[in-house]
Amino acid sequence: MQILRNRKELDHLFARMRKKDLQVGLIPTMGSIHEGHLSLVKKSTQNKFFSLATIYINPTQFNDKEDYLHYPREEEKDIEKLRAVNCDALYFPTQEEMYPKGLKSKKTVDEFRNILCDKFRPGHFDGVTTVVESLLRTTHPDHVFFGEKDFQQLKIIQSLCQRLKLNIEIHACPSVRLRNGISLSSRFNNFSENDRKVFDKCAYQINLLITKLKNDIDAVSLSDFKSILKQRGVKKIDYTEIRDEENLSFSNTCNKSRLFIAMYVGDVRVIDNFILY
Ligand code: PAF
Repeated sequence: MQILRNRKELDHLFARMRKKDLQVGLIPTMGSIHEGHLSLVKKSTQNKFFSLATIYINPTQFNDKEDYLHYPREEEKDIEKLRAVNCDALYFPTQEEMYPKGLKSKKTVDEFRNILCDKFRPGHFDGVTTVVESLLRTTHPDHVFFGEKDFQQLKIIQSLCQRLKLNIEIHACPSVRLRNGISLSSRFNNFSENDRKVFDKCAYQINLLITKLKNDIDAVSLSDFKSILKQRGVKKIDYTEIRDEENLSFSNTCNKSRLFIAMYVGDVRVIDNFILY
């Protein structure tokens, strides 16, 4: 796996690679690599794309400074994990390369806004779309891979690519889940021992809820469910909502719908979504 520390090294690699007529599959990450990220790399290599992972902890998408400062950073381990799944190259963009005009974000996408995470993390998605646009323009991939765990992010990035008329195929990949049923997240590295216990109890309740919803959605009260999570030790709940997976509008059926959850276990924000059909 080639490790690229700046744009010059990246361009040099592309010059050699384009001659071989390889398609590039981009896997953008903020590091702290887990099985979810690795599944994206594997998908790209299975398709015989030249798999380029990036690690950049993007300051503008953190609406909370403490969250940015405590975001897990594990460069050596990340390199080993990516190497082990035969990732072809790993690029660490510099801040100047991602933000040539200074560290600020712009609003490019209006769809899927003011709901779910956008309501609770002002500016977050502008930070995401700003850095993703920069990454796409510097690495000009043919394919890009995202996990469905961050479902609203995925929708917004799909809109971004349409808006910018970028001819890039977006691959939406299913979440990789822990044994308790919750999608893996880099943030789980920050759990305390007690957080893990609370997390497992909540996971159990979430699985129960999904079974009940699939059985008879009209018999379920989401506000009762929130109280149960609080009793199990959840610090704060941003949302528990059922929404249509196409347009993210509220849904009262399981058809084409998902349960969306965002909650705090200790100081760790846990987000996930669950297919209900
Ligand atoms: O999902 C993530 O890890 C980040 O939001 C992304 C897409 C790499 C942009 O920083």
